[in-house]
Amino acid sequence: MEQQMNKQLLKDTIGQLFANGKGLLAMDESNATCNKRFAAEGIPQTIEMRRKYRELIVTTTGLNESLGGAILYDETIRQQTNDGIPFTDVLMKAGIIPGIKVDTGAKPMAGFPNEKITEGLDGLRERLAEYKQMGARFAKWRAVITIGTHTPTITAIKANVHALSRYAALCQEADIVPIVEPEVLMTGNHTMQQCYDVTEQVLKTLFYQLYQFNIDMEEMILKPNMVIVGTESTIKNSVDEVAEATVNCLLASVPASVPVIAFLSGGQAPEDAAAHLNAINKNFKDRLPWIVSFSFARAIQQPALDLWKGQQANVEEAQKLLCSRAKLAAAARTGNYTVAMEK
Ligand code: 13P
Repeated sequence: MEQQMNKQLLKDTIGQLFANGKGLLAMDESNATCNKRFAAEGIPQTIEMRRKYRELIVTTTGLNESLGGAILYDETIRQQTNDGIPFTDVLMKAGIIPGIKVDTGAKPMAGFPNEKITEGLDGLRERLAEYKQMGARFAKWRAVITIGTHTPTITAIKANVHALSRYAALCQEADIVPIVEPEVLMTGNHTMQQCYDVTEQVLKTLFYQLYQFNIDMEEMILKPNMVIVGTESTIKNSVDEVAEATVNCLLASVPASVPVIAFLSGGQAPEDAAAHLNAINKNFKDRLPWIVSFSFARAIQQPALDLWKGQQANVEEAQKLLCSRAKLAAAARTGNYTVAMEK
């Protein structure tokens, strides 16, 4: 029989990840995604440049004031600083818990044009055991849902939440906290209402499936998108409108027993992601049954990456920017962010 999960350990991990107004940094871009971001900056797409960039991140002082955890990628969790210190050790020493992306990517779903299914279940039990030995205490799996003329289909939603549930079960069995991420993409010209409807359908389908797979809702983290208009739309909703739609959608679909919702940024400008998270926490403080925090990648990293450009001379300034974006996200988590703080 598989070992019973250690609920207390999972609860402690979640408590530490989000203590004192903190959130998570997603620095788990796959090599392909990281290379795409490097290409846009003219940075060579090599294993050594990816290592240098991740070293820049993990050696930034002060990140631990805003971050309780950092999500790594398979390549990164095995890497070390120039001085030979494993990244996981650097993070743990700073009090930042290492996590690991364990899905192997969203692939085109056969028979369903323009839809994706996330892979990575085969051998996952063994991979989780290895990552745990390396220090990972939480994991991430991202499902991708696309809003289009004929999408998402219920079949793609069901296939994706089925995979998310099997992943979450394996994580909990291994005493690793699962971050369950069903991302409804911002790409497209859909309205905020369409995003609301799809997000609600996805989350309701997800939680029914998680329930059927005996997932302990108290020992997981939900990583959803915000409810927001498509990137190609000409309509722009106010910060308060986005906050209200997002909160209403989550209240309608996410059990109160889930301890933490940690948003992805999804390609929003860092200032927008911070302003939206802030309005959610500020305007709805008394209505939220969960901690509402962040698990941003681009909304924390992008300005630092833009500045670094792969140059050693820019490391220090890039680290300052990274630290300041993490601080702004943490301020938004407690509803204390203001636009004036951007200066
Ligand atoms: P973004 O914040 O850039 O959307 O990334 C979050 C993430 O981890 C997506 O899986």
